[in-house]
Amino acid sequence: MSDVLVVEPGAALRGRVQVPGDKSISHRALLFNAFAEGRASVTGLLDADDVRSTASCLCALGATLGEGEVIGVAGRFTEPQDVLDCGNSGTTMRLLTGLLAGQPFHSVLTGDATLRRRPMRRVSAPLRLLGAHIDGRDQGERAPLSIRGQRPLRGLRYDSPVASAQVKTALILAAMQAEGELVFSEPYVSRDHTERLLGAMGVVIHRDGARLVVPGGQVPRAVDVVVPGDISSAAFFLVAASICAGSELVLEGVGLNPTRDGVLEALDAMGADVRRENERLVSGEPVGDLRVRAASLRGVTIGGGLIPRLIDELPVLAVAAAFAEGETLIRDAQELRVKESDRVATTVGLLRAYGVEAEERPDGLRVVGRGAAGLRAASVATEGDHRVGMAAAVLALGLPAGVGPSTVQNAGCIRTSFPTFPALLERLRAR
Ligand code: S3P
Repeated sequence: MSDVLVVEPGAALRGRVQVPGDKSISHRALLFNAFAEGRASVTGLLDADDVRSTASCLCALGATLGEGEVIGVAGRFTEPQDVLDCGNSGTTMRLLTGLLAGQPFHSVLTGDATLRRRPMRRVSAPLRLLGAHIDGRDQGERAPLSIRGQRPLRGLRYDSPVASAQVKTALILAAMQAEGELVFSEPYVSRDHTERLLGAMGVVIHRDGARLVVPGGQVPRAVDVVVPGDISSAAFFLVAASICAGSELVLEGVGLNPTRDGVLEALDAMGADVRRENERLVSGEPVGDLRVRAASLRGVTIGGGLIPRLIDELPVLAVAAAFAEGETLIRDAQELRVKESDRVATTVGLLRAYGVEAEERPDGLRVVGRGAAGLRAASVATEGDHRVGMAAAVLALGLPAGVGPSTVQNAGCIRTSFPTFPALLERLRAR
């Protein structure tokens, strides 16, 4: 992929497309099967940098990963010979920290400059309470993280201050290796792919809303996984087709897990025309096709329990808001500030570059939508954030024909989650 993405405005998008595999489920399919007893096939795995980071860390820990197959270590990894590099992937680092907390050896996790800036105390602090020795820069807040795992770990009662599936999953993975039980709660239910997949692997997790109880001493059994399409990747095309007149797309086989489908609820409230078709269950996850047609959008307020269900889609929803009529307010989204970039700042920056009226709020942003008229072409930097890069490309596509092409600089970061995005966008433009 070239490092500069040039996007011509004013084309309708038409056709059928399969978006790549879900990133969250791809990480989990590899991590959990690598730790499990037995062997499993994984199909539809996302082929992108983040998942490669997970795969290479797991190989360094003694698991065997072949073409579409994982052979697990039956609960016992081997001490890695070198530092484990998680690249740009927060999910890799936080979930591995949970697994390694219960492994009786020393390991060090690092990542790229972006990942080394992201907060890790949210996992290192509760994992220490379980008995693991975890340290890192800034008192365990930043990678590189040094982990000396303990066997067995202790039980823990923990009320997480953030609704984060990465925190929840790290604790569940450690708790499976404990002698006591984990009693966990979070302010809102975060994505539940872990509970679904570990459940299919025979791990007992008692669930009651945003509260979980995980008994200790459990080793998962390997299970085959078919990974659905990523709704977070589909979101770029849902918004692109909504804002480009004359568009109609069918996105096939998209994961529609109710803890992840907030983008559909938000787009519906904005007046978008998105229909679910052919709904089914695949590997314990709800899946369906999404048919989207261009529509006039209106501004909305997005906040509260909806936020964890669409957190990764907020940059592109802010782009939708720019093309809507009226004001959109995104609140209760402080977590945006600690993603691959400070997404409040980077999203407002990209909107303003195109002439959109937008402002930062401590916990979100405000966007004043006035439709496409008055917007201009721009050259925007991604700040190394894949979703900001793709959101910038979608905005450029929706500009009025005649404003000329826009450029997304440092677009290589899109490889993190969606390497085929530029090619797909090109293919779907109606000629
Ligand atoms: C993820 C959880 C979310 C999400 C991230 C992937 C996961 O992060 O933003 O892209 O796979 O568990 P948090 O757990 O920090 O909310």
